[in-house]
Amino acid sequence: MSIPRPEPTPGDTKWFTHDRFGLFIHWGLYALPARHEWIKKYEKMDNQTYEKYFKHFEPDLYDPELWAKTASNAGMKYFVVTTKHHEGFCLWDSKLTDYKATNTPAGRDLLKPMVEAFRNQGMKVGFYHSLLDWHHPHYTVDNRHPMSENEEYIAADKNRDISRYIEYLHGQVKELLTGYGKIDVIWFDFSVAPSERFPVKGKETWQSEKLIKMVRELQPGIIINDRLQIDQDVKTPEQVSPREWVKVNGKPVVWEACHTFSGSWGYHRDEESWKSVDMLVKMLIDTVSKGGNMLLNVGPTARGEFDKRALERLEGIGEWMKRHGRSIYGCTQAPEEFKCPPDCRLTYNPEKNRLYLHVFSWPFKHIHLDEMADRVEYAQLLNDASEIKMITNFNSSSHAGDKDIGQSTLTLEIPVKKPDVTVPVIELFLK
Ligand code: GLC
Repeated sequence: MSIPRPEPTPGDTKWFTHDRFGLFIHWGLYALPARHEWIKKYEKMDNQTYEKYFKHFEPDLYDPELWAKTASNAGMKYFVVTTKHHEGFCLWDSKLTDYKATNTPAGRDLLKPMVEAFRNQGMKVGFYHSLLDWHHPHYTVDNRHPMSENEEYIAADKNRDISRYIEYLHGQVKELLTGYGKIDVIWFDFSVAPSERFPVKGKETWQSEKLIKMVRELQPGIIINDRLQIDQDVKTPEQVSPREWVKVNGKPVVWEACHTFSGSWGYHRDEESWKSVDMLVKMLIDTVSKGGNMLLNVGPTARGEFDKRALERLEGIGEWMKRHGRSIYGCTQAPEEFKCPPDCRLTYNPEKNRLYLHVFSWPFKHIHLDEMADRVEYAQLLNDASEIKMITNFNSSSHAGDKDIGQSTLTLEIPVKKPDVTVPVIELFLK
């Protein structure tokens, strides 16, 4: 049976494509303004203006064990946290800068206890690390920089030596990959396209090849993403649901879609575009049905909590995952020969040889599966393991006109009432 199989890459993606569902965490000083993690850029703040957030960062309710437990209860198997975002602020006790959590009222390394807590929950550990840095004195201006319209700041670029920033960048990555045990994922972000005024910041700037080499030496098996301008182990479509298995040069690759709850990655107090549990569960299913992973983001508050809206969604997803994880973990796109009926998504577990039919819109009484009459040994609803009767040669005789169902069609007889779960799943044990 043909399922797309990505070419192997240096990183260990076996656990990754099994686990399918992770937590992204964007936590930094931008949690205080609470109006987007790009606020420094959007409001053109200079370092001095932004300093008030550094002075007032006091996450007194920070409870990494609770975070890890919440993520695990939602069914997530790994997490990726912003060690440093574009603003340049470091969550860990870096020896290479003073711009770090230890020097804020937080007064300590916030990364270490987080890594430990998630590991204790059996979750894999990932670090997001920003290539951009809007605070470092030697980081030159580009069109994504908060000071991109400030002539005085731009003029001072002549005194900046980007190679000193690159040394800092590589040095910090080394700290992160040597001080926190086994790291499973490193998620670099991002390369800046050239603009009219400013040159590209890409693989030459970051010295991507050298950086990748060091990362691989320090953490063999680690998964590296694609934003160093050199594709590595995983493609990372952002806030988009791809239409099909993600391909590069026509070939399927390992991929992970990252998504927010409401648009921004950092904590945003006033955003009203929160996705529902129903939509989020469907996004996860849709992703796995195309062979991908989903990395779902929480932006914790500056007090150190996941806010109520995030918790409600994570709980709702967890409620579904508790009974339906079987159609997600270890699953991938269904072999081509299985045609997906309307309003449904298929996933497939190749090891167990089971097909999972996710019913996005519950139809009346019957679901017809073409070309499947001899293929299924047993069918049940996944949420309660109640049998689903299978009919072949279905005859819609009740004044329905010509019989339109072929002999090769398998018909599932489903209850009229939709099962009381976010998305019902029918588990099909294949012969
Ligand atoms: C973008 C944004 C950033 C976010 C990231 C997550 O590149 O710059 O704010 O962290 O996407 O994928």
